[in-house]
Amino acid sequence: MLRQIIYTSKVNPKNEKACLSEISQASAHNNSLRNITGILFFDGKHFFQILEGFSQDVEKTFDRIKNDIRHYEVTIIFDAAIRSRDFPDWNSSMVMTEVSEWEYVKTFCNSAELKSRKVTSIINSFISGRWNSEKRFTKLSRPVTNHSKVVNLNERSYGNFSFAYQPIVDSVQGNVSSYEALLRDRDKVFPAKYIESLPAQQKYHFDLHSKEVAISKVAPYLESHQAVSINLLPGAFIDIDSAADFILNQMSINSLEPEQLIIEVTESEIIRDFQRFKAKADALRTKGILIAMDDFGAGYAGLSTLANFPPDKIKLDRNLVFNIQNDGVKQALVSAVVEFSTKLGIIVVAEGVEDKEELRCLANLGIQRFQGYLFAKPCYDCLPFVTWESFFESAV
Ligand SMILES: Cc1cc2nc3c(=O)[nH]c(=O)nc-3n(C[C@H](O)[C@H](O)[C@H](O)COP(=O)(O)O)c2cc1C
Repeated sequence: MLRQIIYTSKVNPKNEKACLSEISQASAHNNSLRNITGILFFDGKHFFQILEGFSQDVEKTFDRIKNDIRHYEVTIIFDAAIRSRDFPDWNSSMVMTEVSEWEYVKTFCNSAELKSRKVTSIINSFISGRWNSEKRFTKLSRPVTNHSKVVNLNERSYGNFSFAYQPIVDSVQGNVSSYEALLRDRDKVFPAKYIESLPAQQKYHFDLHSKEVAISKVAPYLESHQAVSINLLPGAFIDIDSAADFILNQMSINSLEPEQLIIEVTESEIIRDFQRFKAKADALRTKGILIAMDDFGAGYAGLSTLANFPPDKIKLDRNLVFNIQNDGVKQALVSAVVEFSTKLGIIVVAEGVEDKEELRCLANLGIQRFQGYLFAKPCYDCLPFVTWESFFESAV
C-alpha cells in the first residue's frame, strides 16, 4: 500500500545553516534505497516535506525524521493511503530554498506535473505563507488585575451540592474575563450519577435552581467587565416557562447586569429540540444574556447548528485543543473556526489548555481566551490563583 505523509516543522536555530547540506545528502541516499519519493522545502525558518512510498518505509523514515533534533514542532498536515505517487520521478530529489528563492519555487511548482490537486494546493498554501504561523501570533499581555491569591467564597450550598470555579483568561486584555461555575458534590466531583437518576422535570428544576447558588457565591467578587458562566440543560429553560425570569431575577438580586451571565449549552442538547431551544434562547438574548456553545467539535452537528443558531461564544472542546501543536488537521479546523467566528463576531474560547505549546499554537491561530489547568484548576468554593507566568514564557 502506498502512503503519503506531509508535514511542516521549524528549524532548530542552533543548527540552521550547517544542517541543510547534511540533511539533503542523508535524505537523497536513504530515500533512494527505500524508494521514497517526495520533496522538501525550506523557507529559512520552516521545513515542509512530502514523503511517499510503501507504507512501512514511509513510516520508518518519518519516525526518524520526527525525532531529529535539527527541527521541532513537527506537525502532520496529511497522512493517508494514496493511489499513486505525486512525485514518481523525484526519486530522492530535494529542493532546498531560501525565502529569496520563492519565485523559483513557484515556477517549479507550476511546472511540476502534480497529479493531485490537493497536494498542489497544500504546497501553494505553504508557499504563500499560510503555514507560517508567526504572522497571526496573538500578542500576549501582562495581567492588569491582581489574581495572585485564592478568594474563598461563602459556604452556601444547594442541598449536598456546591460549585467549583475556573477562570477563563483573556490573554490580550491580561485579565480574567469570566469564571465558569462547575457543579460539585461534597467529594468535589461532578455528580453525574445523581443527575442521571432524576426524572426529566426534576432534573431541569435541579439544574436551574442550583444556579441560584452558583451566581450568588461569585457575584460579590465580579468586576464589571467579568461574567459568570453557568452550564444549563436546554430542557431547563425550554420546559420551565419561568426560567428566563428566574435567571434574570437572580442577576438583579446579586446586583449583576444580564450581560454578566453566560449560559453554556452543548451542541448535542441544542439539536434535540432545536426550534423550541432557539425561541427560548433568543428570548434570553434579547434581555442581554449571552449564550455559549460548549464542547464545540466534540462530534455533533457542528456546522449546521452554527448556521441556524450562531452563539455569542464558542468553546472549543479539549479534544481539538489537545496536542494541537503537532496536528495540522486540528490547526486547520481551529483556524477555520477562528476565521468564521471573527466574521460573525463570535468569541472563541479554547478549553482544557494544559500545555504551553498548546497555548502558543492556539495564540498563533488567533485565539485570545483560554481556560485550563495551565492557568488554574477549578477551585471548590473559591476563585483560584491564576498562573500568569505561562503567558510570558510562551510569548517570547
Ligand atoms: C527537515 C528534515 C528532513 C529530513 N528528511 C529526510 C528524508 O527524507 N529521508 C531521510 O532518510 N532522512 C531525512 N532526514 C534526516 C533524518 O532525520 C535522519 O537524520 C537520517 O535519516 C539519518 O538517520 P540514521 O542516522 O538513522 O541513518 C531529515 C531531517 C530533517 C531535519
